[in-house]
Amino acid sequence: LQTGRDYPPILCSFSPSWLPNHSRFVAVGGIYTVIQTKARLTCEEWGENYFLVGPYMESSVRTQVELIEPCNAALRRTIDKMNSSGCKVYFGRWLIEGSPYVILLDVGFTAWSLDRWKSELWENCSIGVPWFDREANDAILFGFLTAWLLGEVCTQCDEPPHIVAHFHEWLAGLGLVLCRQRQLPVATIFTTHATLLGRYLCAGNVDFYNNLAEFNVDKEAGDRQIYHRYCLERAAVRCTHVFTTVSQITAIEAEHLLKRKPDIVTPNGLNVKKFSAMHEFQNLHAQSKARIQEFVRGHFYGHLDFNLDKTVFLFIAGRYEFSNKGADIFLEALARLNYLLRVNHSDVTIIAFFIMPARTNNFNVETLKGQAVRKQLWDTAQTVKEHFGKKLYESLLVGQLPDVSKMLDKEDFTMMKRAIFATQRQCLPPVCSHNMLEDSSDPILNCIRRIGLFNTAQDRVKVIFHPEFLSSTSPLLPMDYEEFVRGCHLGVFPSYYEPWGYTPAECTVMGIPSISTNLSGFGCFMEEHIADPSAYGIYILDRRYCGVDESCNQLTSFLFQFCQQSRRQRIIQRNRTERLSDLLDWRYLGRVRYYTHTHTHTQNTVNCFSDHEGPMLCPLSATGFRYPRPASVPPSPAHSLHSSPHHSEAEDEEEPYDEDLEAEKDRVNIRQPFNMPNRNKNQTVSLPEKN
Ligand code: UDP
Ligand code: G6P
Ligand code: GLC
Repeated sequence: LQTGRDYPPILCSFSPSWLPNHSRFVAVGGIYTVIQTKARLTCEEWGENYFLVGPYMESSVRTQVELIEPCNAALRRTIDKMNSSGCKVYFGRWLIEGSPYVILLDVGFTAWSLDRWKSELWENCSIGVPWFDREANDAILFGFLTAWLLGEVCTQCDEPPHIVAHFHEWLAGLGLVLCRQRQLPVATIFTTHATLLGRYLCAGNVDFYNNLAEFNVDKEAGDRQIYHRYCLERAAVRCTHVFTTVSQITAIEAEHLLKRKPDIVTPNGLNVKKFSAMHEFQNLHAQSKARIQEFVRGHFYGHLDFNLDKTVFLFIAGRYEFSNKGADIFLEALARLNYLLRVNHSDVTIIAFFIMPARTNNFNVETLKGQAVRKQLWDTAQTVKEHFGKKLYESLLVGQLPDVSKMLDKEDFTMMKRAIFATQRQCLPPVCSHNMLEDSSDPILNCIRRIGLFNTAQDRVKVIFHPEFLSSTSPLLPMDYEEFVRGCHLGVFPSYYEPWGYTPAECTVMGIPSISTNLSGFGCFMEEHIADPSAYGIYILDRRYCGVDESCNQLTSFLFQFCQQSRRQRIIQRNRTERLSDLLDWRYLGRVRYYTHTHTHTQNTVNCFSDHEGPMLCPLSATGFRYPRPASVPPSPAHSLHSSPHHSEAEDEEEPYDEDLEAEKDRVNIRQPFNMPNRNKNQTVSLPEKN
């Protein structure tokens, strides 16, 4: 392979995040977020030479892709050739920021090749895939198709192309293995966003981090019936020129479980929107919160005996892995918080949302009825208001002040009584919004049953489990995920297994405080780069150095402290959280720190091949930087001094306060460390013992 000096290199990203059999869930996970949010910046950098390659899904293509003619002759010939050989390959632009080119491969259309490709895989790589594993079967189809595509592109180009192919996760990994096996002139990157075994072992209550070096990986994979998947994953790791992962903690895991140390750690970023008005995101919070409050009014109809203005919204969201995502300790901490708030006679109510997709059979009747009742009450109020207004108007027209006692007639009262009657309820507000298919064995529901958080009037902590990702077209809670996050007060992500964790990162760029852990990639990243994370509303729970019960107590205390903040303190804290956005911006991570380095490194690595047996890797020197403590004191009630004075809730509305000046000071401070000289960072982290 030549260097990319004379011809522009081509970057292809292969992602499985649209695999058809995964249905809707896969098109909205963390890996999808990586690829979607990085597209704009990558397009800016690579221009017309950037192509995303994924499986074709008709429903997504209809709404998200503009199918067009291939953008160059070599690609046109490649696609024509493949299509005339029994494949269906589409070319288009993905209608997201940056409008990247997409090449979509119809995996189902080539299912007839599955048996042949499986035997080829067995003969060449000794990996046998059982017929019943549909996900792995799709991975095989996708893998062979991608290798075919790359091979064909290389043949069809007039000049030798310089292709960097970036593969994400084991589901896309086979394409990489085949490229190497067929000796295609392609430089490869493999990024793992988790290890298969890590996910499985952690979900099984294993003391994971203390035993990383001890696991008999083949046996563990075999015991869990994922040996073939594990082989595919490990083959990709073994074959790739450059191996990357999303955090230091997953790098250590990969070294032990996949037997190769990642060459580079590439933390995940986001597209950060900057508003011209500094407080715009605060307004968005207020607007979205009002919509969540509307939903809550309906959900708790007949039991609205708490003050919505003093209600704090917490949430957890993501892939439904009960213990990996820490939903277990979140529920336990909520039970403890409920007790604390009750014994302290607190007037604060907590509503904790669980947004984790599970198998359901639509919304349940009681939940839908709640919204219908609310709507009916609203309509009734509007009708009565109209009658009232009309009479008032007529009275004013004849120059008289109205007789208030005659403003409403009997009909109005009957209508109102009927509406109130509809709010009578025999049951408690449901803890789950959907009919669950596995209701009796569902871990969240079973835990709620055990700890008894049933949304009774005495409970200061209420729970709503929404086992489906959010959508603005939902008849129940018509908000997309971003709007929902903006309307909440705190995201709670006490994960035990979390290679990165987009959910707390998304909270941060929207100015919403969050709780993550020192076992999550995000938590470790923030701990490393911020002097005092909690002062910025980034609470990092210790799940590494202490046992589950202790972590749970710490979580309870974070939550209890949070509930005691006044509105003003929350506003100040949100401002601080939002200030950290730059740290998570792809612009910064992509250009300055990690990604450009990875792409160049991959090309350089491949260029070395003619002279060396294997890849020659240059060590990455990470630029050290650290956010200073905020110029002002932290807003938590425990430490709050002059900058967050105690005053009545009436004063709590936003107003120009010194914090803005301090924000500006902080901004100046923050910029500085980015340009600091390299800090000699030791990239290896030895995992300490967990009790
Ligand atoms: N998410 C979403 N809709 C929802 C809830 C979550 O699109 O209703 C997205 C969220 O924006 C985030 C992703 O799901 O980007 C979860 O990613 P994360 O890395 O936190 O964990 P994963 O679920 O991939 O393990
Ligand atoms: C934003 C809005 C304020 C609103 C506040 C509510 O800051 O700009 O007008 O009062 O949010 O904050 P809270 O934490 O009580 O939801
Ligand atoms: C995986 C991990 C998650 C990470 C995401 C993106 O889904 O579970 O922690 O944020 O990939 O890298």
